[in-house]
Amino acid sequence: MTTSVTLSVMRGTGDADSTLQDFTVPYVEGMSVLDALIWLRAHVDPTLAIRYSCINANACKECSVMVDGDVTYACTARLTPKGARVEPLEGKPVIRDLVTDILPTKERLSAVLVAKR
Ligand code: FES
Repeated sequence: MTTSVTLSVMRGTGDADSTLQDFTVPYVEGMSVLDALIWLRAHVDPTLAIRYSCINANACKECSVMVDGDVTYACTARLTPKGARVEPLEGKPVIRDLVTDILPTKERLSAVLVAKR
């Protein structure tokens, strides 16, 4: 049976103007938080910034976010009938919405050096 739940998603670039925005998303038992975010982007707001790659293999680690205050992978975190609050990782620079700069400093420097060649 499909019902609806509220997904509260932090929007913005991590500055003082960032706010939680509530969305109503369809809920199906067993769906992941990432499923809800992908649905949101496809059906409600294509500007929502999220990052993922493997979708549910728990291999890429690119979907790391905070769900109800806990660090987790959006692709393995199960949405519940209560809904969820989804925020970017704490302590990481926010690029936009749920996307944070997760590159280790050494890799970030390597990317700059390659770009300058
Ligand atoms: S999308 Fe790859 S670990 Fe979540």
